[in-house]
Amino acid sequence: MHDILAQLEIKRERARQGGGEKRIATQHAKGKLTARERLELLLDDGTFEEWDMFVEHRCVDFGMQEQKVPGDGVVTGYGMINGRLVFVFSQDFTVFGGALSEAHAEKICKVMDQAMKVGAPVIGLNDSGGARIQEGVASLGGYADVFQRNVLASGVIPQISMIMGPSAGGAVYSPAMTDFIFMVKDSSYMFVTGPEVVKTVTHEEVSAEELGGAITHSTKSGVADLAFDNDVQALLMLRRLYNYLPLSNREKAPVRQSGDPIERQEPSLDTLVPEHPNKPYDMQELIVKTVDDGDFFELQPEYAKNILIGFARMDGQTVGIVANQPLVLAGCLDIKSSIKAARFVRFCDAFNIPVVTFVDVPGFMPGTGQEYGGIIKHGAKLLYAYAECTVPKITVITRKAYGGAYDVMSSKHLRGDVNLAWPSAEIAVMGAKGAVEIIFREDKNDPVKLAAREAGYKERFANPFVAGARGFIDDVIMPHETRKRICRSLLMLRDKKLQNPWRKHGNIPL
Ligand code: HXC
Repeated sequence: MHDILAQLEIKRERARQGGGEKRIATQHAKGKLTARERLELLLDDGTFEEWDMFVEHRCVDFGMQEQKVPGDGVVTGYGMINGRLVFVFSQDFTVFGGALSEAHAEKICKVMDQAMKVGAPVIGLNDSGGARIQEGVASLGGYADVFQRNVLASGVIPQISMIMGPSAGGAVYSPAMTDFIFMVKDSSYMFVTGPEVVKTVTHEEVSAEELGGAITHSTKSGVADLAFDNDVQALLMLRRLYNYLPLSNREKAPVRQSGDPIERQEPSLDTLVPEHPNKPYDMQELIVKTVDDGDFFELQPEYAKNILIGFARMDGQTVGIVANQPLVLAGCLDIKSSIKAARFVRFCDAFNIPVVTFVDVPGFMPGTGQEYGGIIKHGAKLLYAYAECTVPKITVITRKAYGGAYDVMSSKHLRGDVNLAWPSAEIAVMGAKGAVEIIFREDKNDPVKLAAREAGYKERFANPFVAGARGFIDDVIMPHETRKRICRSLLMLRDKKLQNPWRKHGNIPL
């Protein structure tokens, strides 16, 4: 018996060594942690239960039968993050460059299947050279098995991808179908075809970092939700994000009470909106001053900055925040911001997270660039997302809510539950100047008359009371009371029930 126990320990130790000391040193020299070190940081101390430590690949080509490493390049299992269950896989670049074999894929599929059965999220730490070249189509099949599970798990359990090394070729499509993608600066990249292929096909010369690094994807393509400085920061932030999320679509997000009273008033908000309607102000200030402890976990902060999205808590409850940002493009909705916000609203809706929307939007962005790019279809995504959303929806209009954008931004008409406006709100088809130039075209050469018309229009429409008179907003509130009014609304909505008609699935404009 003693021998058998010793044998087990030897086998385990062999698996823990992965690709061996030299390759681990190379990994460290690149500023990267190993697959196991990453899991140690991500999970609560001593909670990791590893599965399939002894799995080996079955490939016999290219001398592979002589090269077997127990675990086969991916560490899988489950553990806890702040006491809450999570399933994990962490690719081990020191074993065949973390390349995915049939057996490696089976290990990932096993944790995904179990996560679906028990209702808990899956976090993937990706660091892989892609399909295991020696295995050919068996490895492609393995990827497809993972893809299929990603799709079936979508909207059922949260799926999070942390890219901590290469992710290239078709392999990028597994992270692409998860709810959040995070990347580590300088050590991770994602692209469908690498720099060499790009050079051959399009004659462009571009480095891997420029083509698909963390900065590129968090600022230009919008593929990544956040970019972190290094592995340690990335994993600690992932633990923070996890606290906001429910384990599955059958649960609500955990409530974490803070000492921040719901009655807290913010007198400085009474002067946040400038006198002049075209002067911008920072919507971030309103968010930070309204949510619990000023703690806002912003996503995609460097992409489509004209809209802000992220998680916060109010009265301890997780909320998804969506807010127009007047500081950028005057807060207009364009293609990128519509897509960014639409996907976020759909995540919140799938996972029972109330959506709080702050509105200051002069409309959709005009121009050929937007029209040729399909703003009609992409803007419709946000409209569709808000309209199908059945979780509690609370909206506060701080200033402009013009035209179609008024309808889109969680209006009463799209089943907004509580729609509030500040006294500075202007809810109208368009701004006064544009409006009088159209309806009083005959006065266009008479500036005095036009100015009078504009003043008349402003007085009649540039306020919240016309909408209020129709019940399109529920109340006009003092800005300093915003936090209290939202918290009370959330409490009232805690047991909200609303179901859309049965269908196989809707056909969101893609
Ligand atoms: C098998 C691989 C591998 C792969 C790397 N390795 N990628 N083994 N299959 N795909 C091995 C290397 O042979 C090496 O083994 C070790 O991993 C580390 O690789 P290095 O090249 O030394 O590391 P580095 O210089 O950091 O370069 C990393 C890399 C490069 C850029 C990822 O290895 C690379 O280009 N790999 C091939 C990538 C690729 O073309 N993959 C297929 C993509 S198509 P030793 O024993 O020397 O340590 C794809 C399709 C998916 O993935 C389709 C889904 C539908």
